[in-house]
Amino acid sequence: MEAKQVEIINLLKSHHKMFSEAIPLIASENITSPAVREAIISDLSHRYAEGWPGMRVYAGCKYIDEIELKCMEYVKQFWNADFADVRPISGVMANLVAYTALSQPGDKMMCMPIPQGGHISHNRTAKNVHGLNLEFFEFDENKMNLDVEKSIENLKEFKPRICLFGASVFLFPHPVKEISEVARELGASVIYDAAHVAGLIGSGYFQDPLREGADIMTLSTHKTFPGPQHGLVLSDKKDEELYKKLRLAAFPSLHSNHHLHNVAGLAIAAAEMIEFGKEYHGQIIKNAKALAKALDDQGFEVLCAEMDYTKSHMIIADISNFEEKVGLGADIEKKLERCNIILNRNLIPKDLKNGRNFRNPSGIRIGTSEVTRLGMKEPEMKYIAELIKNAIIDEKNEEKVKAEVKSFRKKFQKVHYCFSSKTKAYEYIEIK
Ligand SMILES: Cc1ncc(COP(=O)(O)O)c(C=O)c1O
Repeated sequence: MEAKQVEIINLLKSHHKMFSEAIPLIASENITSPAVREAIISDLSHRYAEGWPGMRVYAGCKYIDEIELKCMEYVKQFWNADFADVRPISGVMANLVAYTALSQPGDKMMCMPIPQGGHISHNRTAKNVHGLNLEFFEFDENKMNLDVEKSIENLKEFKPRICLFGASVFLFPHPVKEISEVARELGASVIYDAAHVAGLIGSGYFQDPLREGADIMTLSTHKTFPGPQHGLVLSDKKDEELYKKLRLAAFPSLHSNHHLHNVAGLAIAAAEMIEFGKEYHGQIIKNAKALAKALDDQGFEVLCAEMDYTKSHMIIADISNFEEKVGLGADIEKKLERCNIILNRNLIPKDLKNGRNFRNPSGIRIGTSEVTRLGMKEPEMKYIAELIKNAIIDEKNEEKVKAEVKSFRKKFQKVHYCFSSKTKAYEYIEIK
């Protein structure tokens, strides 16, 4: 029997080793500090605490309540919000909490379609789980952003109950202010899904949706915000009726257990970002711009060059030029993975017209949150672009590129922008 356990532990160790020797560029991922890792393997992972602190349905919550209250306090401070519910266990669940609080099945919602960057929870979850009828904002492919005038026309015609901003392909701030004003006149509520850009928002670099017209901001706590995998709902409406609806949607409608270990981890990550967020998130954006420029210089078609590529942690490249030589998104993703460069394929707007789907799209999406947390800066971005060029354009031997990646990674083994970093970033911690 023990062999079965050993088998799994060995796979975990291999996974840790692989990441310690790779360049992690997935835009929706990040790495937590050793302190957050300590919190998420604590006894809280065994406990229940249904309800609100001080009004639990379980015993044994004395310290859990204190932790959850502190967590709410810290996240409200970081995002300058009046209300926080730290119980949603993921970004999808945070969106469902917001839909449930603001709408009934059969109501209408406007959002972004998936091929232009919308997330499955804006489309599939909203429709199939909560029963919303969807209409989409108009998208300007050149600006990789919403077309304000056409979206307002759609809005006036469709008259939705909810307007939802935010996306998984998110290079530039959405026109929340302009569109929210009209939405409000039409009686719609506004949700901003900040899953990707939440950290950048909290540190003051992207846009400030809660001041630009959003009633509710939902997020995942593990992308540009480097916390444990969890969700969060925030508001600054000073509206007790709304807050009550949100609380009731989170519990008892949508959660029982709310993963208390991650609440503790989130509190620690929020404390780190209150202290180090300005420096960290500023560097993430500098790195994204530097990597985009370097890839462009190396011969890749990075989208939105005329707008300096991005204002977030993310860049998108159109790799269809390499179709004959290497293949499309999925092939490039696999080739780079063999070289220990981890990023992902992505649909880009032109794919729809060309009849392509998510299995082999002509885009790749690259994020700089994790490499920045490992301490990398602009010179390292240049080198990463060179390694990607070696693999894709020069078709250099994959084993040779992999060896160069491994050697480069040796210098970047600690988590930065946190209070202490004794344990290596991808160290496998044995406690048995
Ligand atoms: C815009 C957006 N919203 C929500 C989510 C879902 O987050 P989670 O995976 O935490 O449920 C994602 C995930 O990537 C996302 O990109």
